[in-house]
Amino acid sequence: MNPTAMTKIPHYLQFKDLDAAAYAYLFERAAFIKRKFKAVEKYQPFADPDRTLALIFEKASTRTRVSFEAGMYQMGGSVVHLTTGDSQLGRAEPIEDSARVISRMVDIVMIRTYEQAKIEAFAAHSRVPVINGLTNEFHPCQILADIFTFIEQRGSIQGKVVAWVGDGNNMANTWLQAAELLGFTVHVSTPGGYEVDPVLAGITNPACYKVFKDPREACAGAHLVTTDVWTSMGFEAENEVRRAAFKRWCVDEDMMRVAQPDALFMHCLPAHRGEEVSAEVIDGPQSVVWDEAENRMHVQKALMEYLLLGRLG
Ligand code: CP
Ligand code: NVA
Repeated sequence: MNPTAMTKIPHYLQFKDLDAAAYAYLFERAAFIKRKFKAVEKYQPFADPDRTLALIFEKASTRTRVSFEAGMYQMGGSVVHLTTGDSQLGRAEPIEDSARVISRMVDIVMIRTYEQAKIEAFAAHSRVPVINGLTNEFHPCQILADIFTFIEQRGSIQGKVVAWVGDGNNMANTWLQAAELLGFTVHVSTPGGYEVDPVLAGITNPACYKVFKDPREACAGAHLVTTDVWTSMGFEAENEVRRAAFKRWCVDEDMMRVAQPDALFMHCLPAHRGEEVSAEVIDGPQSVVWDEAENRMHVQKALMEYLLLGRLG
């Protein structure tokens, strides 16, 4: 299964690595795979021959680890789990060498790390597909799950408005890429100094997002309101400064009231109630955060199947 001849290897390092047609396929496929899971029907395309997934974590995780690990086993494959602390990655072995070695022994790799450049370097030296499980810059698997969740609940996201309230971080940058690709608009409100980075995201259509100073204005008329922690992993030293800067960027019931009456609330989790979101909102009737978290597993199973086996069915 481990290809020795180097052909073009499909990686998933940023949301824009796939096109709209591939996403349409993936959302259908994820729904099919989810139905099998809910019906307790075996679906094991990775059983014979057995496929192995390497999970590499340089930052903490609950959802990403469980969703990839459980998903791979459910599909009949195997998993190897590595962290910085228990591998040579933490002892300065070059990422290129790690990629050359690991990718000779497994069929697919997921990495959660710091700089996007690091995962790009790994992928450039990998013989097998590499998936971004979060970098400082992007979190494509999460947005894949979020949009799948939106479609499940409300139908197509095309033409809709997504309000992003808070830090212009990896999640926000990935939302911009998704908006450009799938034809919706992101209303972004961040404190000054924490803006999104459309250049980094490679945005060519500036109409796919609109910036608002006031978070309430960003939420007005939105079909989906979403936020994330004020301080992402790797930025902990800025905690106190950020706590002061982000005070007004808490998604509360007032913000939800100005959105569409049937607006959804999403958060990639983990969440801090009373900081970026009030308990009333995240635990309230418009919140779909638990479905959103579960859907990580279903969409990632579809993604791994697509990267390893191509289009099926
Ligand atoms: N949303 C998300 O990626 O969660 P974890 O950090 O728990 O993996
Ligand atoms: N923006 C957050 C997401 C965690 C899943 C972080 O990078 O820490």
